[in-house]
Amino acid sequence: MTTDTRTKRFLSWIDFRFPLTEVFERHLSKYPAPTNLNIWYLFGFLLIVVLAMQIVTGLWLMMNYTNSAEEAFSSVEYIMRDVEYGWLIRYMHAAGASAFFALIYLHMFRGMMYGSYQKPRELIWLGGWFTYLILMAEGFTGYVLPWGQMSFWAAQVIISLFSSIPVVGEDLATWIRGDYLVSGITLSRLFAFHVVLLPILLIAIVFFHILALHEIGSNNPDGIDVKKHLDEDGVPLDTKPFFPYDISHDIFALGVFLIIFCSVVFFFPTGGGYIIEYVNYEPANPLSTPAHIVPSWYYTPFYAMLRAVDFPLFGLTAKFLGFATMMAAVAIFAVLPWLDRSPVKSIKYKGILSKTFLGIFVLSFFALCYLGMVPPTETKTLLSKIFTLGYFSYFLLMPIYTRIEKCKPVPERVAEA
Ligand code: HEM
Repeated sequence: MTTDTRTKRFLSWIDFRFPLTEVFERHLSKYPAPTNLNIWYLFGFLLIVVLAMQIVTGLWLMMNYTNSAEEAFSSVEYIMRDVEYGWLIRYMHAAGASAFFALIYLHMFRGMMYGSYQKPRELIWLGGWFTYLILMAEGFTGYVLPWGQMSFWAAQVIISLFSSIPVVGEDLATWIRGDYLVSGITLSRLFAFHVVLLPILLIAIVFFHILALHEIGSNNPDGIDVKKHLDEDGVPLDTKPFFPYDISHDIFALGVFLIIFCSVVFFFPTGGGYIIEYVNYEPANPLSTPAHIVPSWYYTPFYAMLRAVDFPLFGLTAKFLGFATMMAAVAIFAVLPWLDRSPVKSIKYKGILSKTFLGIFVLSFFALCYLGMVPPTETKTLLSKIFTLGYFSYFLLMPIYTRIEKCKPVPERVAEA
């Protein structure tokens, strides 16, 4: 019996008991991807790679990390100095967190540009949004683990935000901390969330996200419904199988990504303080507050919003209103599919108003990202207020501007686009 026949017999033995070939072909090799997918469609694959990398490097870090307020900081120093390649694993994990957020923002922006959240892809979008929420919690809990000055004070600032909630706030913050102040008890619970609960949820929801995508099929830069024109086997005419066509783009993108990622890890591991903050090389000290507390760059747009709301209203404190604004800024992505009333999906065919508001959103996001990083001044707080309005106007005015603007007709077939 040749090796080929043996493999075939082994596969048919498995297929009789579990639909391995069917699942592999449906979700991978024969997945029909639209022929006009562009560079913006590479980030989903890269996100899966980074997720896998974070899990592997995280597992290795956990083997040498000590989860206690007394030893956490020195165990990280031990990893950096004494564990073989510990420095590499830690730098990869830290830079991996920044890469994860950079990729997720690009991936979300692609969805916003091409209307990939619109009917019938609402569940794909919601699944993705949920991964974003979990990633934010994962980033925060991970940041606390080295128990440096920034770790401690970030935990202090973020958890104290909950104490601003009327009536239940103080009790809620104590419940989250597990103590009256941020302490080793807080560290232990954040560690448990970071290494067990949140990664499990993240993997499960990514699985759901991909399953939902493969049920409906990918959107494309023109927003053309490729399922309208099928060949005699029922396969959309304007698609090609994932293997070998799309995978070759993805592998090329992975090569480019790895060149950039490795350059950062080997030559610029702290990213000038944006990947690992310099103050975090000092052990946590509850008696000394750092002069300038800032979160990681990927949270700064929301931090700028928190600081922008500096006035009480209707008996609610400025702190609570800022916290609520920040939460609303993240939550509002979830309702995007129901805010967009446009008859077309892609920004290419939408009118001038959609293009302008998307532009305002991008400008506001970057401006808030910067404003959240720098110490506040009167002018900067005013700018944060303006850009917060810009950010929300994209979402809140969407039901109006997508309904009144004039759109271009969408071509029937990809070749016509
Ligand atoms: C760990 C996080 C995530 C992973 C691993 C992931 C993975 C993927 C993959 C592999 C694809 C197919 C390839 C592609 O279109 O790029 C995809 C598509 C999609 N993702 Fe994600 N994703 C994640 C987070 C998100 C988030 C946060 C959102 C939005 C809030 C989102 C929204 C979408 C949408 C709408 C599609 C379909 C796009 C289209 O067909 O045009 N994803 N995702």
